[in-house]
Amino acid sequence: MALQLGDTVPNFTQDSQLGSINLYDFAEGSWVVLFSHPADYTPVCTTELGEVAKLRPEWEKRNVKTIALSVDSAESHKGWIGDINETQCTLVDYPIIADADKSVSDLYGMIHPNALNNLTVRSVFIIDPNKKLRLQITYPASTGRNFQEILRVIDSLQLTDNHQVATPVNWCDGDDCVVVPSIPTEEARAKFPKGVTEIKPYLRTTPQPNR
Ligand code: BEZ
Repeated sequence: MALQLGDTVPNFTQDSQLGSINLYDFAEGSWVVLFSHPADYTPVCTTELGEVAKLRPEWEKRNVKTIALSVDSAESHKGWIGDINETQCTLVDYPIIADADKSVSDLYGMIHPNALNNLTVRSVFIIDPNKKLRLQITYPASTGRNFQEILRVIDSLQLTDNHQVATPVNWCDGDDCVVVPSIPTEEARAKFPKGVTEIKPYLRTTPQPNR
């Protein structure tokens, strides 16, 4: 059955250009962004993997580890990383799983044969420190991902895990939040001392509580 939000993600041990990787050991209390790409030595993937490397300070700020995956070999990954580093002016230092036997791709449903035969599509999984799946998005091979959006979702998850708010359309860190529907407005006014604006009884905004 396909993985669903809230599920404990399955563990795996698989080769990478950095040696064997066990997902649970790798995660070690961090958030994890696991993302697949169709193939090494392809243009869109080259830009994506370079961008993820360049965003390392942003991942670290949020206690996130990144891990990529394709069905190419570890030797292929090593050669391609040289090209990514050269062309994208960065240093790819995170693991790229070499899923040659497709065991992880199958476990996570990353191969969509009617879209792309035998290769992984652009799947993204955000996994929290309790190994729960918190987001999955699947992009087509022809569309490079926007990793700012992945960071934005992590910001939202880390905020809403700790405060009784949700984040509205196009929210970015620092913007006003909405009060979750389960809290009555009077209770919300006590809980959020920066103020609560009641637009409708079910639509209440408050400044971001952890700012
Ligand atoms: C790419 O990464 O450029 C790519 C890979 C597979 C299909 C289309 C584009």
